[in-house]
Amino acid sequence: MNTKDTPIWHKSTLPTDEIARFTVGRDRELDVLLAESDVLGSIAHITMLQHIGLLTSDELHTLTAALREILGDIRCGRFVIEEGIEDVHSQVELLLTRRLGDVGKKIHSGRSRNDQVLLDLKLWTRRQLREVVELVRQLFEELQRQSERYKAVLMPGYTHLQVAMPSSFGLWFGAYAESLADDMLFLLAAYRLVNRNPLGSAAGYGSSFPLNRQMTTDLLGFDSMDYNVVYAQMGRGKMERNVSFAIASVAATIAKLAFDACLFNSQNFAFLKLPPECTTGSSIMPHKKNPDVFELTRAKCNKLQALPQQLTLITSNLPSGYFRDLQILKEVFLPAFDELKDCLSMTTYIINKIEVNEHILDDPRYDLMFSVETVNKLAASGTPFRDAYRQVGLDIEAGRFVPDKEIHHTHEGSIGCLCNERIAEYMNSILDDFPFQRVEAAEKKLSGEQPT
Ligand code: ARG
Repeated sequence: MNTKDTPIWHKSTLPTDEIARFTVGRDRELDVLLAESDVLGSIAHITMLQHIGLLTSDELHTLTAALREILGDIRCGRFVIEEGIEDVHSQVELLLTRRLGDVGKKIHSGRSRNDQVLLDLKLWTRRQLREVVELVRQLFEELQRQSERYKAVLMPGYTHLQVAMPSSFGLWFGAYAESLADDMLFLLAAYRLVNRNPLGSAAGYGSSFPLNRQMTTDLLGFDSMDYNVVYAQMGRGKMERNVSFAIASVAATIAKLAFDACLFNSQNFAFLKLPPECTTGSSIMPHKKNPDVFELTRAKCNKLQALPQQLTLITSNLPSGYFRDLQILKEVFLPAFDELKDCLSMTTYIINKIEVNEHILDDPRYDLMFSVETVNKLAASGTPFRDAYRQVGLDIEAGRFVPDKEIHHTHEGSIGCLCNERIAEYMNSILDDFPFQRVEAAEKKLSGEQPT
């Protein structure tokens, strides 16, 4: 520990450099991500402190102005956690006391770094979720566009990777769009769990100051508060885990799409093609055009699906109350968002460029996928289904089967009736439930961008 900058909790003894290095860990690098949230949380907190008489109006005014200046620096990328300072909370307090002297030391009344970090993580996560929601929406729309564009182009459907029944690119693209709509419902649930205020739980047991928690809840645009202070503290790790399930759900959709795309892009399938500028080459085989983008998104998204397990294990068997173990959650949770967002935007980028093979079914190797159509036609004209099935089966075995490639699938969700509009309505009804405008307005008021 650099002795010129002592920790905010310093009394008479200091930890050794070894202890400081190990306990601070990666906080000085990762906490920078939380800086903006930390300052917004502090502005809400001091507004409430003034309201309950713990700060004067002048003090509130001075502190708010200085915190907004710090916010400006953070947004311009001019914020670092200095050598010897252990986390974002200490750095912001240090900047404030450097600028304002003793009044800077008043902001910490009625809170602890335990509820401060809980709050920072929630504010940061809800902003990240908003970005994820927007990227999922964009990918959804691209998939729906491709589904409509290629709704008349048939392709084989498989079970056991054996040619099974007619499918279409309308169905294939549209299926992943609908999968994202379900994932969006998960994201909405995650958002609502995040959007509850932990501030005021302090170290995990509340405070003897008459805190006005409803006031900070409203100022920060939360839906409600985590009422019970012990439960609020228990939310550390639980919040991350819940959100990670939603992330994993989106990641699973993209990983499956990526695998299909790799398979269908192979010469042995040749169902779709990537333009050459979206592929990579080989150092030895001059003909190669590899679908590396899909391979990388598949691996990254598979890795993201490990997130709920990682977070669960970091916190497993912890009793209630704060433990430093919780700090490690940030190391796996925070970087996950950039990885997911990158995969989402890359998938949107490349889905738009996919070209499909409109002549797949000219190849006789797919003729048998029309067998069920013939069975159904016989059954529709009166032959019992089981007899029709047997008759067509025997024709196939005898090499007599002639496919009729005119197909009529009309029920909801089938080749001839994709229901893309209804899927879009489902997606939009979920999107409408995110309170993004209200949250944004609250944050803008706190940062001074919008009058209160
Ligand atoms: N860096 C800490 C964390 O992420 C901040 C909270 C510190 N609280 C404490 N009681 N040591 O958990």
